[in-house]
Amino acid sequence: MNIQSIKPIILGIESSCDDTSAAVLVGNQIKSNIIASQKVHESYGGVVPELASRAHQQHIVPVINEALKQANLTLNQVDGIAFTQGPGLLGSLLVGTSFAKSLSLATNVPLIAVNHMEGHVLAHFIQENDEQAVPAFPFLCLTVSGGHTQLVKISSPLHMEVVGATIDDAAGEAFDKAAKMLGLPYPGGPLVDKHAKSGNPHAFEFPIPNMDELNFSFSGLKTSFLYFLKKQVKLNEDFVKENLNDLCASMQHTIVTAVLNKLTEAAKKLNINEIAIAGGVSANSYLREELKKLATENNWNLFIPKFEYCTDNAAMIAIAGKYKFEQQQFATLNTTPNPRLKIS
Ligand code: KG4
Ligand code: ZN
Repeated sequence: MNIQSIKPIILGIESSCDDTSAAVLVGNQIKSNIIASQKVHESYGGVVPELASRAHQQHIVPVINEALKQANLTLNQVDGIAFTQGPGLLGSLLVGTSFAKSLSLATNVPLIAVNHMEGHVLAHFIQENDEQAVPAFPFLCLTVSGGHTQLVKISSPLHMEVVGATIDDAAGEAFDKAAKMLGLPYPGGPLVDKHAKSGNPHAFEFPIPNMDELNFSFSGLKTSFLYFLKKQVKLNEDFVKENLNDLCASMQHTIVTAVLNKLTEAAKKLNINEIAIAGGVSANSYLREELKKLATENNWNLFIPKFEYCTDNAAMIAIAGKYKFEQQQFATLNTTPNPRLKIS
């Protein structure tokens, strides 16, 4: 172990939901980021927790081996082993946590517990080279994933505060549930994005959710979308098939407008111009385009992650682990996964 090393080597392990991932980080640069996605959930319309943990067990050894191989490093060169402690599915988290603990025990390499949501935010500090710009503190991050929708104020890598969050469904969940109603397989978000490219975002108008304070809500929108579809299908049974692209574009427009309205409100309220997005939904092309326009209008310094660091990946766990490693914030063999872990 070399805590003083200028560029610590961190092995990151992510297993919070349905992607098994391992990454190797040297300093702030990623040397490998291997992701094994689980196709097994597609036909179920959502992640089946028991199947997810079994698939993690199958994938974790080959994924870690491949990450080390691509980085051209061996386990005994690693300075810290960072793993996702939560939030996520308990069975999935248990696989990564137990495996990280056993690796640490066998090699004497210190263990670092990472909050998955903090990982999404800190992915912005992964650099391709030393010149690449990173957000200045404090910055505001809209974190939109399958399980969370949060506005986070980041004062330093280890100090963040949630200033707004969804009171029910997450933005990714709204995408996935709308997709399911349209007969698209799980996860539907990327498919809605794809179909929406050939659709009209104003073909159908749905109420844009607007909650008090800096909070979000998507369950009302889900219900109004469902009733709208039911009504139209009664009149024309081919309605969804004939209007799929327009339905995707209109739903996408509503979700994206809702999250961007809140982001704008938060930026004004907190007087922050340093703006970032993170999480799976930040891969959405319409969100990225609309956000760029907003940034120009509002004079924001905008940070949009590379596609591979939007959806779940271990690179973000490794970079978050690096900051804890530098402060010697280590986990122990008694550290347990926490499915409801909050941002600290
Ligand atoms: O961050 P993530 O990979 O996993 C969680 O931590 O939840 O986010 C997954 C979510 C899913 O709901 C998925 O449908 C959504 O991100 N997503 C997208 C796109 N790519 C992923 N939603 C809309 N458009 C996309 N291009
Ligand atoms: Zn995630």
